[in-house]
Amino acid sequence: MARSAWFEIAEEGWARLSAARPLGRLLLEAVQNAFDADAANVAIEIEPDRVVIEDDARAGIADERLVYTLFLSDKPRDPTRRGRMGRGLKELLAAAERAHVETIGTTIVFDGEGRRTETNTRESGTRLELFRAIGDDEREAALDLLRLAIPPRGTSLRVAGRLVRRPRSVLALADCELETVVIDDGVERAAMRPTRVAIYAPRRGERPSLFEMGVPVQPWNVPWHVDVAQRVPLGEGRDAAPERFVLALKATLLEAMVHSYLDRRDLRADWVQDVIARWPVKSGLLDAYVSKVFPRGSVLGGTSRANDRAKQLGAHIVDARTISHGAWLALARVLETSDDYVRRRSSEFGGDEVEPDETQRRFAEAVRWLARRVAGSVVRVRFFARDPSDAGLLEDAVTDVDARAISFNVKGPLRFDDVLDPGTIGVVLHELAHLASVEHDHRFIDRLQLLAGMLAKLLADGGPALATALRRGDPER
Ligand SMILES: Nc1ncnc2c1ncn2[C@@H]1O[C@H](COP(=O)(O)OP(=O)(O)O)[C@@H](O)[C@H]1O
Ligand SMILES: [Mg+2]
Repeated sequence: MARSAWFEIAEEGWARLSAARPLGRLLLEAVQNAFDADAANVAIEIEPDRVVIEDDARAGIADERLVYTLFLSDKPRDPTRRGRMGRGLKELLAAAERAHVETIGTTIVFDGEGRRTETNTRESGTRLELFRAIGDDEREAALDLLRLAIPPRGTSLRVAGRLVRRPRSVLALADCELETVVIDDGVERAAMRPTRVAIYAPRRGERPSLFEMGVPVQPWNVPWHVDVAQRVPLGEGRDAAPERFVLALKATLLEAMVHSYLDRRDLRADWVQDVIARWPVKSGLLDAYVSKVFPRGSVLGGTSRANDRAKQLGAHIVDARTISHGAWLALARVLETSDDYVRRRSSEFGGDEVEPDETQRRFAEAVRWLARRVAGSVVRVRFFARDPSDAGLLEDAVTDVDARAISFNVKGPLRFDDVLDPGTIGVVLHELAHLASVEHDHRFIDRLQLLAGMLAKLLADGGPALATALRRGDPER
């Protein structure tokens, strides 16, 4: 059973609510209705004391009750028509002091005496005339908002005499599954529905915005205008879409554009970070993102020790402090952390440990002696075998500060038969200096200089006998 006569309306309250909306927003309600009616021409003029909006839609307003009955709409079921709440036109009228709505055959007049209906000879379209005082700033703001509209193809929109151009199209995405609003069993509900999403370059001076079928909804931090070809869910006040919808749409854009349209700089933008941090994106998207944004061989920053070690092994560290926690968690799905990386590298390398031969044993003896006498440290010396082909990541020698162990690659260029060979002794001192600092920082350089100086003094004091003993791996004698 259809309900009726349950409610009445407090006109003052309605006028109060309506007048609180910015003029541009109210006028967009009329533009929206004209777009919905498939008008070929829509024109708006804003004067100091009145606004005139006229369209040439073939049908006009079919039933005069649509003009003054709150929540009465003839298009609630169709998600590809913009209106649905049956209130926009009534708000626009309520925010005026007087108004005329002239549509085919009928004019409805609203003034101090109330409302009355007259007949006319109009044959197509609708003309709204709204009387109220309009300040210059209010007018300018309203004109800017109206000019932001993207008129549908086949509709020309004129604002204060100037034709509104369609912005340049960047890309159109068919079949994007997005939340929309449908009426199901007389109840307004959210539903997912595939739709077209058009991406445009903003016209000069415009703030990039989200649009619902050409009508601006809200500015946003995506660099384009994005127009959704079906109803966009709107929050209370209808001047913004809910956060979940905005995020889902941004994720759709990123998925579609990450592979070919967005470069490294685009991908560093906040809106992209929003999506990565807060939306369950596919791994393929993250892979594409990572390969475009970060250098090859990147790992996620972890503990500072692991970061230093990973750097030594040639990895690029993605600084965890520069990304949000959510982004870190997402990136961890496709990037190793420095801690994992270091663990993996050192286990690879532990597996290749080799037993030293006689020459290498003597070399180890000399290194241990140098560590004690020059660096004042007790170290273990180990040997590993790694082909020079994949030596890019591993050096000729590696120091594990925790274990106080220095490992030498037996397949590298080191001269185990002559610890004082210039290249070889250089590597030994380098590794000894790492006992003081894993990084190649100032502390490391100071330490290396000191060790080199100490060694020079030791050799000068010890003379040729010491040099010979060192080469034989028998310096104690
Ligand atoms: N310019 C117009 N041309 C044709 N029909 C219109 C026009 N403006 C309003 N209407 C009719 O008036 C109805 C009420 O408009 P409105 O209060 O804005 O609600 P809604 O757009 O949500 O339906 C619309 O559903 C439409 O049928
Ligand atoms: Mg409407």
